[in-house]
Amino acid sequence: MSLSKEVPADAFPQGFAWGAATAAYQIEGCWDMDGKGPSIWDTFCHAKGRVFEDQTGDVACNSYQLWEEDLKCIQQLGLTHYRLSLSWSRLLPDGTTNYINPKGVAYYNKVINDLIASAVMPMVTLNHFDLPQALENRGGWKSPEIADVFDSYAKFCFKTFGDRVKLWITVNEPYVCAKHGYEDGLYAPGLREPGTSVYLVGHNMLRAHSKAWHSYDANFRHLQGGKVSIALSSDWAEPLDPSNPEDVSATERYMDFILGWFACPVFCTGDYPEKMKTRIEARNLELGFSEGPRLPKFSEDEPNPLGTADFFALNYYTSRKVKNTSSHRSELSFKGDQGAEVVMDPSWPICGVSWLAVVPEGLRKLLNYIKETYNNPDIYITENGFSQIGPVELEDIERWQFYQDTLQEVSKAIRDDGVSVTGYFAWTLMDNFEWAEGFRARFGLFHVDFSRAELKRTVYHSGREYAAVISRHRTHIKLEKT
Ligand code: NOJ
Repeated sequence: MSLSKEVPADAFPQGFAWGAATAAYQIEGCWDMDGKGPSIWDTFCHAKGRVFEDQTGDVACNSYQLWEEDLKCIQQLGLTHYRLSLSWSRLLPDGTTNYINPKGVAYYNKVINDLIASAVMPMVTLNHFDLPQALENRGGWKSPEIADVFDSYAKFCFKTFGDRVKLWITVNEPYVCAKHGYEDGLYAPGLREPGTSVYLVGHNMLRAHSKAWHSYDANFRHLQGGKVSIALSSDWAEPLDPSNPEDVSATERYMDFILGWFACPVFCTGDYPEKMKTRIEARNLELGFSEGPRLPKFSEDEPNPLGTADFFALNYYTSRKVKNTSSHRSELSFKGDQGAEVVMDPSWPICGVSWLAVVPEGLRKLLNYIKETYNNPDIYITENGFSQIGPVELEDIERWQFYQDTLQEVSKAIRDDGVSVTGYFAWTLMDNFEWAEGFRARFGLFHVDFSRAELKRTVYHSGREYAAVISRHRTHIKLEKT
């Protein structure tokens, strides 16, 4: 199947962003070079038993030193956009603007300038999981002061790079970060504090995001003309038994506890979803929990999150069937609050990592859901991808099939359903450090040879084909400095 035959030339609107994404800790390496401070991921990986085979991002793809190799990959794909993240502790080693690391600033200036010179628009994420360790030592995302510290960091970045960066993401995947970092302990900082910290962390991330958006709006937008959002991850979920009202409402809860948790305050009401609030309240009564509200309230004295996104940034990977559950009833936990159990449809193939069922059609459904539920926003798909584990296949036919199917679904969402999808970023430019999975899960459009110091990048079949699609569909954009 050739995408060019299937997709009419007008399916993707003028200026559609054809992108690929990465994140600092997953690619940069040089974890303590040139004045960089440690992040919570450095600490987490250096403790044994956290990551597959105790691997770390100490070297990763060495993009800090091999940026020009990455640039060649970006150019070879013909991307119009590249999503990268800034390492907060490379720029501000202790997380605050008390000391700014000039080498960190120089590195990102070069990356951004090289992208612009190659007519590639950067989309820059301020925090992709790697909180500075110095801030973690002061309470990290659990501490209320983090919102102001993040806001100062964001303002510093807007001021330093915003003449060239026009697309900003404040926080990447608050759901994943809060859930895996503070509830399950699977990600840094590795805390297991079920049913409590997860909501506090999510809340402080929303406060941090809102403050940064308001700062941009008040001080930078009129000068720089950019856009700011927060990248939200979500599965698409359907009831296991659509005729069972309990499964139907469990599915609604499932979506609200993942996506609505953040999207409802930002795009709908300025507050958490009603279903989430009532469910957590009811569980507090049921479990006799009385140590204050677990789901914090937004204060009237701070900028409200409502309206603090100039576009919807969506990371979509997979889908789930959901049934109502009464297990976890007696324990305080996020899952108990959510009251939903997930089931994998046996017809869905799994790619690489166990959680990744391949369901491209779920993306179209999710895009429609977002259109209906969150007031028809412009949507950038800021991540979507397919992993391989095991013997490397440079001819990654299945991955390319996945991308073709996915892009078909996106084009149908745009053309047939009228969803305003403004861009698509493949995860990821090249194989990299896949968090707790280490290097064994490969998501790249380029293969990286981690067995040799050169860390050679080689294009996969999927990368070649993606480049061909981009060259047929891309519209040239003019990038101007403000
Ligand atoms: C989403 C995360 O943002 C990214 O860092 C990760 O590698 C991918 N999911 C794949 O798991």
